[in-house]
Amino acid sequence: MDLKGKWATLAIGLVGGAMAMFAINRAQQSPVPPPLPTASQQGAPIAANFTPPLAADAPDDAYGDAVRLGERLMTQTAIEAPQYVGNGLACSNCHIDAGRKAGAAPLWAAFVNFPAFRKKNGEINSFQKRVQDCFLYSMNGTPPPYGSRELLAIESYAAYMARGLPSGISPEGRGFPALAAPAITPDDGRGAVVYAEKCSACHGPEGAGQVFEGGSIYPPLWGVRSYNWGAGMATIDKAAAFIRANMPQGQEGSLTEQEAWDVATYIDGQVRPQDPRFRDSPQATRSKHHDSPFSRYGTTVAGILLGDPATTPPSGQRK
Ligand code: HEC
Ligand code: HEC
Repeated sequence: MDLKGKWATLAIGLVGGAMAMFAINRAQQSPVPPPLPTASQQGAPIAANFTPPLAADAPDDAYGDAVRLGERLMTQTAIEAPQYVGNGLACSNCHIDAGRKAGAAPLWAAFVNFPAFRKKNGEINSFQKRVQDCFLYSMNGTPPPYGSRELLAIESYAAYMARGLPSGISPEGRGFPALAAPAITPDDGRGAVVYAEKCSACHGPEGAGQVFEGGSIYPPLWGVRSYNWGAGMATIDKAAAFIRANMPQGQEGSLTEQEAWDVATYIDGQVRPQDPRFRDSPQATRSKHHDSPFSRYGTTVAGILLGDPATTPPSGQRK
């Protein structure tokens, strides 16, 4: 076959392939109900490029005020809700761009999937309950009560951003983009090198974060002012997926998947505040709440038993 013939064959192949895909798409339109939502499902391909409305554009009334308070609670959590925050973090340190950024667990993508069953607490969780859990673990604090000004405002903000999205389906951008399993077993030594080269300039050599002149704040990754052992970020798979998609700030996506696994393993092998569900011993708490290869709680890393009350800051401490 001459060159022209080859191109023609290739073109037919491509058209045929496209038609076959079309047929598959048509087949998928048969009335199969969408899968039931779970609390942390990775994005499914709908609502690509969804841009949530800005809180500033919410109506100039009581509802709009709640939406704008919700946004401030995300970005200035310790100023707007000091009694409920127990560490040096704001919601938007993880839910980046005030909970708007796709691939950083955006609130609009979450909102349309609640109420949902969560294995973590074994019950149906309303959206407010889901937010309470991030106060308890990620913010190492005390959850605001149901129906409180704070939970209503965060819920109003999430609902406002989610306007127009279909409910009961994870839109693209929910949670963190899925990460392939590591090619080689993640390793603290390699993780420490990644950390020193690509993270410590901002998050500090001891992971404690830092505040620079002019007010830019780099949040803590471990130690007394960080998220506690019950947080999603304290599990290696979630941390690796977050880091791969969202860090280093300004060079997002530059780490290899292996580097993300290694540095997440290193960070989640450090000391951080106690799991508020702690019972009896690190080993007992591990078997009840951390029985997973992605949690290092209750294991010994560099000679320290992680979760040992002797070396673990208590939960719910601010400074
Ligand atoms: C240390 C990082 C961190 C902080 C701080 C944090 N969260 Fe989260 N949050 C997470 C992680 C990790 C998840 C789980 C994402 C997943 O499973 O896809 C999550 C999940 C959520 C979800 C559900 C998302 C979904 O798609 O189901 C909501 C809602 C939420 N957080 C709200 C908040 C609010 C409000 C605050 C502040 C009071 C907050 N979070 C603070 C890390 C954090
Ligand atoms: C240029 C500075 C910079 C670098 C470098 C950087 N980060 Fe961050 N990181 C930030 C900032 C700022 C935030 C908070 C984002 C926000 O509030 O918008 C953050 C947030 C985080 C969070 C969630 C919040 C928390 O404190 O737990 C994690 C985890 C994280 N970074 C890990 C890493 C890792 C791992 C690396 C290296 C691979 C890294 N970062 C490199 C600036 C940086």
